[in-house]
Amino acid sequence: MASTRQVRNIALIGFMGTGKSSVGRLIADQLRFSFLDTDELIESRAGKSISAIFADKGEAAFRKMEAAVVAELASRSRTVISTGGGVAVGPGNLDLLREHALVVCLWASPEKIWERVRGQTHRPLLREADPLNKIRELLAAREPFYKQADVLLNTEVRSVREVVQQVLHQFNLVKSQSR
Ligand code: S3P
Repeated sequence: MASTRQVRNIALIGFMGTGKSSVGRLIADQLRFSFLDTDELIESRAGKSISAIFADKGEAAFRKMEAAVVAELASRSRTVISTGGGVAVGPGNLDLLREHALVVCLWASPEKIWERVRGQTHRPLLREADPLNKIRELLAAREPFYKQADVLLNTEVRSVREVVQQVLHQFNLVKSQSR
């Protein structure tokens, strides 16, 4: 890992439904770090839900808000950051996160993701006639970005507890190497 990096935070990236928020909250509890969710921050600033932002202003406007939030995160320390599923794709976002955070990607197959999100209604990108196919397409397009993470964890073969432990292990390793 480049010595210019100052890994003070943990950033979770990955597709919708891979467990970034639930895993992130547990990691934050364990480390006594703050927890921050980029979608929640965008919603509280806009005063409306992600779905309403997409409907009123369009995806491009949402991506701009997302990039602005990512840029601000550089000032954070001792924070676990859960990012929206599209953050990794935004130009420059991953490089910005890497400057201050260990970037961990949570992974799952399209079928598993669909199983996890099918009962939920708050994701505008999945309001499609064939959501599973949409997940397959988006995941294939995003895979090269997700794979740029420092750590890639398949959540399908691990319990939430194991995922949390793996992230903590990798973070402690990086911290001990930078001492
Ligand atoms: C998106 C994922 C969502 C949210 C928005 C767009 C995406 O976040 O940011 O609906 O492009 O994959 P989650 O990954 O937390 O569901």
